[in-house]
Amino acid sequence: MNKTIKVSIRNLYKIFGDDPLAALEDVKAGMGKAELLETRNHVLGLNNINVDMAEGEITVIMGLSGSGKSTLIRHLNRLIEPTAGEVIVNGVNILEYNEEQLRKMRRENMSMVFQKFALLPHRSVAENTAMALATRGIPASQYTSEAEKWLERVGLGGYGDHHPHQLSGGMQQRVGIARALASNSDIMLMDEAFSALDPLIRTDMQNLLLELQAELHKTIIFITHDLDEALKLADHLVILNDGQVIQQGEPQDILLNPADPYIEDFVADINRARVLRVRSVMDRNAIPDEVSGDIDVNDNLESVIAKSQGALEHCYRVMSDGKPVGSLAMPAVMRALVPAHASHTGPL
Ligand SMILES: Nc1ncnc2c1ncn2[C@@H]1O[C@H](COP(=O)(O)OP(=O)(O)O)[C@@H](O)[C@H]1O
Ligand SMILES: [Mg+2]
Repeated sequence: MNKTIKVSIRNLYKIFGDDPLAALEDVKAGMGKAELLETRNHVLGLNNINVDMAEGEITVIMGLSGSGKSTLIRHLNRLIEPTAGEVIVNGVNILEYNEEQLRKMRRENMSMVFQKFALLPHRSVAENTAMALATRGIPASQYTSEAEKWLERVGLGGYGDHHPHQLSGGMQQRVGIARALASNSDIMLMDEAFSALDPLIRTDMQNLLLELQAELHKTIIFITHDLDEALKLADHLVILNDGQVIQQGEPQDILLNPADPYIEDFVADINRARVLRVRSVMDRNAIPDEVSGDIDVNDNLESVIAKSQGALEHCYRVMSDGKPVGSLAMPAVMRALVPAHASHTGPL
């Protein structure tokens, strides 16, 4: 399947300090973040980032605090200017945009959902939701019904007349999402949007986002420091460390083939049975005549284990859209549950 690339980041560097261009030479010659700070007193924010973000997909940028996630996402609407590199949106390098073009892009093509919600306290929930439309000069008579539609869609039907302080954190972030959707932009930027919420509310919000996305197919760039959240939401996962991309790809693939010890450590505590799907570990070549039953390519291994009741002799036929596409035997399921590096460390 050919994907359309919506946002493309090319050879992007960001260095904070008095003379970033001089420091850039050092970075290109191989100087790392710690050394740059120590010897040049410059902060390496981003180091040669190359990421393609496909239309209609959720690209998740994941990394620990200080790894450069916010710096990266702020380049996408030029809240930060790069030291070097390109940011290509819909085929155009936005670094060549003038003020007017930039304003138009921010207003019409991109919406943001913030960690701290950023709702206007003295405006009603409906007014907050319709903010982008009001800015575009659309009359209240029109934008009110649009706001109500999206509030309804995020589970806040009837709350339009309330004010933000009357809502819980989770509800306020639902308003944040409704506001982004009402703007009708095709790109949504979400920087730690769920990180301030309690775990159960956070799970609800992740599910809401996936539900909306299945319908709306926005291009979403989602930032998080939480690996579970990243694995749950990502179509494409980008792992940052010290301003550098350590690994990127389909989450399943990263889990099965971690590129280096840093990623291996990162994914070591993940519940692999819940995250790994049949499609990532199945045998596509052979379908035995005798099978114990059918499973779906998108089932997770946890559900396959439950179905087998733990018995290793079972082999299942794998179905996709009602057609057989391969098979999965229980020993292969078990092997996939053991991280790659654990299988060759030997007995302790
Ligand atoms: N305006 C700035 N001036 C100097 N250093 C900065 C600035 N903004 C960010 N940094 C540094 O860049 C790095 C990446 O920061 P940030 O993008 O905020 O990380 P994250 O969002 O992943 O926590 C950090 O080392 C941070 O201290
Ligand atoms: Mg941040």
